[in-house]
Amino acid sequence: MEISNSVKYIGVNDHAIDLFEGQYIVENGMAYNSYVILDDKIAVLDTVDADFTQEWLHNLQKQLDSRKPDYLIVQHMEPDHSAGIVGFMEMYKDAVIVASASAFNMMKQFFGKDFADRRMLIKDSDTLSLGEHLLTFVSAPMVHWPEVMVTYESTENILFSADAFGKFGALDVEEDWACEARRYYIGIVGKYGMQVQNLLKKASALTIKTICPLHGPVLNKDLDYYINLYQIWSSYRVETEGVFIAYTSVYGHTKEAAELLAKRLNELGCPKVAIADLAREDMAECVEDAFRYGKLVLATTTYNADIFPFMKEFLHHLMEHNYQNRTVAFIENGSWAPVAAKNMKALLETCKNLTFTQNEVHIKSALNEESMAQLEELACELCVEYHS
Ligand code: FEO
Repeated sequence: MEISNSVKYIGVNDHAIDLFEGQYIVENGMAYNSYVILDDKIAVLDTVDADFTQEWLHNLQKQLDSRKPDYLIVQHMEPDHSAGIVGFMEMYKDAVIVASASAFNMMKQFFGKDFADRRMLIKDSDTLSLGEHLLTFVSAPMVHWPEVMVTYESTENILFSADAFGKFGALDVEEDWACEARRYYIGIVGKYGMQVQNLLKKASALTIKTICPLHGPVLNKDLDYYINLYQIWSSYRVETEGVFIAYTSVYGHTKEAAELLAKRLNELGCPKVAIADLAREDMAECVEDAFRYGKLVLATTTYNADIFPFMKEFLHHLMEHNYQNRTVAFIENGSWAPVAAKNMKALLETCKNLTFTQNEVHIKSALNEESMAQLEELACELCVEYHS
């Protein structure tokens, strides 16, 4: 992949991975991106995962045409991008690492050395000229780790954006960008909306023609589309009007209520209804949908005098990722001593700016006339604004 005459892609695709970052299912694999800028001086931006260091060094060598790199710019120390640092420095003895102080500290932690005699220590707004290309380093703490910086190249207007604007999926698989970029963003950076907003604010002052992230495709068309989605996600705004029903069900009675509610919401004109069984579907996909839609219905049973496990896990993901600015409703089932609705609400009351519906559904073992009526009331309340 050629980004321009001087900027080349040297990343790798990983189809052997089972769980990215030890938890995310990536059916279409993962790409670890890396770039080289060929100018009077040669700069490499980031390395790749440990299993692919040799392939990456080979990709780099093919672009160098017997020249040698001068700089290794380390934007992010998470091992999916930093594992090749030592191998690179052993191969290119005259190269210098360009990184922030906190990145060098992490090198010491990961590798037992911080290349004290082969380093260029940089801070926010520092620049580095390669000849025709001028790099400006922009610190982006917590997007996604504290040491992160992004790099702006002002001759070709390229933003090397580190993890920002990345997605799950290898680059040799065609798939929708937003779906896997949203699941990636919410899961990995979702907690740090304010820090992403800070970065977007800095980026808005720049002319950007190309975004080169550390995962996913290079973006060079319709950049407003991607930036707008990042604005929505990082400010916790609703992306899609509609209702997401997340349920767990032991013997099918709670599932029946969830599916009946979905049917009634569709009949009442709800613009979009999504439904998921938390025990059987990808948890990261469910968390993504909770952030995507404006309203969330939580349907579950009381279990061990508390909330059924998969629902409890789901709620903890929402809280950890700063879930906010949404409408939430509860459906609980309990054959005796039901507490699920009360306990779910108590957990979510710690979140910012949630509105709880007036109507709740309380099922005792199985739906009956009374709980069916509650379900109907809840469906009407959730759809009331879609009729006006
Ligand atoms: Fe792709 Fe935060 O590493």
